Amino acid sequence: MKWRVVQDQHELARTAAKMLLDALDEDPQIVLGLPTGGTPAGMYAQTVGECRVARHCFELATTFNLDEYVGIARDDPASYCSYMRTHLFDHVDIAPERIHVPDGLATSVRQQHPALSLDEALELECVKYEEAIQRAGSLQLTFLGIGRNGHIGFNEPGTPFDSRTRVVQLAESTRKANARYFPGREVPTRAITMGIGTILDSAAIILLASGEGKAEAIRRLSHDEPHPDFPASALLRHHDVTVIVDQAAAKFR
Ligand code: F6R
Repeated sequence: MKWRVVQDQHELARTAAKMLLDALDEDPQIVLGLPTGGTPAGMYAQTVGECRVARHCFELATTFNLDEYVGIARDDPASYCSYMRTHLFDHVDIAPERIHVPDGLATSVRQQHPALSLDEALELECVKYEEAIQRAGSLQLTFLGIGRNGHIGFNEPGTPFDSRTRVVQLAESTRKANARYFPGREVPTRAITMGIGTILDSAAIILLASGEGKAEAIRRLSHDEPHPDFPASALLRHHDVTVIVDQAAAKFR
C-alpha cells in the first residue's frame, strides 16, 4: 500500500484529479470504478475544470459506479446517478452508453421480466452489473472513499472479502452520515454495491480520505491486519493500492 499525505482537501482534490487525468491520458479506453459522496466531489470539480480545456478526456472511457440506493429513482436528486451527472457526467465528453450506475429500482430488468418481485429484479440487476464489468474487460482503476466504520462502496463491517455486487443493508451510522443528502426524508435502508471481491479485481485502486472524521478509520487502515470487521483492510491484500489522505485524516497514523 502506497501512502501520500497531502496538506488539505484542496490538495487532495488536485492530486486525485491529476492521477485520474494521467490514467485517462495513458489509456483513453480505461475502465474506471467511481465513488460518490463528499470526499471525491473536489476531485470531480478539478477534473471537469481540466477537461473543459483538454476537451476529449472521457471520450472513450467506460465508468462503473460503486453503488446506488435501493428504492431511489435515477432522476431523484438524492440518487448517486444524479450526483454523478451533477459532479461529472454532464460536464465531460463521456458517451452515455459507457456510463454504468446500478439502478436501485431495477427498472429495465422489471420491464423485461414483469413477473419478478422488486427483490428478485434487484438480484438480477446485480448479476447484470457484474456481467457488464466483465464484458468491459474488468476494472482498471477504481477510486474509493472510506466510511468512518471502514466501509468501501457500501460493504459494511462483516462483509466477506470475496463478495460480489449485491443488495446490502446499510449500517445505521452510514444512514446517519448520509442524512444530509435526504433533507426531510428517510435515508434508504438498502443499497446495491459492488462487492469487496469486485473492487479487489480492479488492477489499481486509489482510496481518498479527508478530514478528522476519517482519522480513526485511517489509523486502523495503517495498523490493522486484514479482517472483515474493517472492510477497507481487504485492500491490504491488493498489490496496487494508493491511499491519498490529507493531514487531518492522517492525524493518528
Ligand atoms: C460512495 C461510497 C462510500 C463513500 C463513503 C465516504 O459511493 O462508496 O463508500 O465513499 O461513505 O463518504 P464521504 O466521502 O461522503 O465521507
